[in-house]
Amino acid sequence: MLPSFTTISIAVVYHSAFGHTKKLAEAVARGAAQPVNSHVHLIRAEEASEHWDTLNAADALIFGSPTYMGAVSAGFKDFMDKSGNLWLKQRWRDKLAAGFTTSGSYNGDKLAVLQQLAGFAAQHGMIWISLGLKPGDAEEDGANTHVLNRLGSYLGAMARSVNDSPEVTPPQGDLDTAEFLGKRVAEMVYRFKSKE
Ligand SMILES: Cc1cc2nc3c(=O)[nH]c(=O)nc-3n(C[C@H](O)[C@H](O)[C@H](O)COP(=O)(O)O)c2cc1C
Repeated sequence: MLPSFTTISIAVVYHSAFGHTKKLAEAVARGAAQPVNSHVHLIRAEEASEHWDTLNAADALIFGSPTYMGAVSAGFKDFMDKSGNLWLKQRWRDKLAAGFTTSGSYNGDKLAVLQQLAGFAAQHGMIWISLGLKPGDAEEDGANTHVLNRLGSYLGAMARSVNDSPEVTPPQGDLDTAEFLGKRVAEMVYRFKSKE
């Protein structure tokens, strides 16, 4: 048990051209804010250069990118490349990390993106937190949009966003899955800090 005055800091860094990853990032942030005394920073990848101090001070970083052409988006990759100076100094070593992505297809190579994010975290010496959910129950028509982890991911949170239109929100189950990931990371931070 941590002393009640202990605070934790979590930053969610995301890129989103059409708003779907943004909605997931907000859900991750809601989950991360659930444990008391957690401070959550929602940071657009394009603006990360203005927030290096926040990222360096955070206990955990949660990365979110849409799946574009089977890979992280160029906007997120730009952030990854700009973090190279911090990699040199291993400033994020031993921080917790996790990730999420969304794409238009049920599959669409989302796993490739989560693998990229996990590899990126590993290059920084971070400790990757998995989603920690068994696959949601499949319904016969595959339209189980309310179910947690309906896409059966393990490495991080996945969502299917029907098209590029920002008005179309990812299904509730996918948003809930993202929220679950944020809460899990915050709980893990508490667990790690209580052992320090
Ligand atoms: C350039 C581009 C490439 C895309 N590549 C894929 C892809 O490889 N697989 C897929 O399922 N969807 C793909 N999509 C669809 C997006 O992943 C989907 O619309 C996602 O919700 C966009 O996220 P955003 O709203 O945060 O930008 C692509 C969309 C764009 C614009």
